[in-house]
Amino acid sequence: KKNIAVMTSGGDSPGMNAVVRAVVRTAIHLGCNAYCVYEGYRGLVIGRDEEKQVDYIRQMGWEDVRGYLSLGGTLIGTARCKEFFERDGRLRAARNMVVNGIDALIIAAVMARLLALTDFVAPFQHLNIVGLVGSIDNDLSGTDATIGAYSALARICEMVDYIEATASSHSRAFVIEVMGRHCGWLALMGAVATGADFLFIPEKPREDNWKEEMCQVIKTHRDLGKRKTIVIIAEGALDRHGNKITPTMVKDLLADGNGLGLDTRITTLGHVQRGGTAVAYDRMLGTLQGVEAVKAVLEATPETETCFIAITENKITRKPLMAAVKETQEVAKLIDAQRFNEAMALRDTE
Ligand code: F6P
Repeated sequence: KKNIAVMTSGGDSPGMNAVVRAVVRTAIHLGCNAYCVYEGYRGLVIGRDEEKQVDYIRQMGWEDVRGYLSLGGTLIGTARCKEFFERDGRLRAARNMVVNGIDALIIAAVMARLLALTDFVAPFQHLNIVGLVGSIDNDLSGTDATIGAYSALARICEMVDYIEATASSHSRAFVIEVMGRHCGWLALMGAVATGADFLFIPEKPREDNWKEEMCQVIKTHRDLGKRKTIVIIAEGALDRHGNKITPTMVKDLLADGNGLGLDTRITTLGHVQRGGTAVAYDRMLGTLQGVEAVKAVLEATPETETCFIAITENKITRKPLMAAVKETQEVAKLIDAQRFNEAMALRDTE
């Protein structure tokens, strides 16, 4: 009887609970024992806290994950853990897996956390690891969507709609900062979906004339009679020299630049994008990928390369993790520029 554990790591994302539920129940259904590692890598390193009498690696029953589908965040917790990135911490983590008889670990995490795993497993031939990408940023190549991205996008659209109502009432401009330190998918799709006037993302550093360009676009829209101005800026927005473009810089320009003189506010959407319940797509994705992950660890042989579960053209697939990470580092994951420009050209009449 195999012992399969599931863990969440890095920033939480909507849909992670669906993963945990699916892994636990599929493992049990297929005759295995299911475990959860609480508090991410920290739980793996601690294993059991004797003083507090807390086990971080716990066997789970079918009922233990009841109600998980409709809840946000990750109910088994996630935590930052420096120790796991040091040799001693890793050895402790490995020992805890052996002590608990864990044969396979399924982890839902952001790309960087999945990467940490590949070094970890190398010395342990018997251990199977499968990754699921849980991230609101949609920042991994080789999969159409990461778990949580569509929930965050839906939240952004909802928030921008709210803001637009008040912006229109006062004829104001809003600079809306959305998450995405290294990846502009949320900002880009948010801008397309809300018809924003202007956009800043890390993958397309702005040219030196960005200030004039933005003011010109917004002036044109205003001249067409638009009463609201929405500029979406990703956290990691840059100019072509690698300097950060901040919401305050944009606000100051809208207020004073090129005679625009717009009454401007900044709204940082922050963690409302990440918290809250998952949209149907992420519940479905987390569930289907969780089921596939259990099948993948059961079918793995010592020769099997560490894989992650992707969705490609609507099909759930297994893919080598390292290749996807490499591709992500080399190619920005964005829709093609022409399609984007066509979509953004629709905005000025709204
Ligand atoms: O990786 C997901 C993400 O939401 C990024 O978009 C954002 O920059 C970051 O996490 C915020 O992390 P924290 O919650 O640690 O501030």
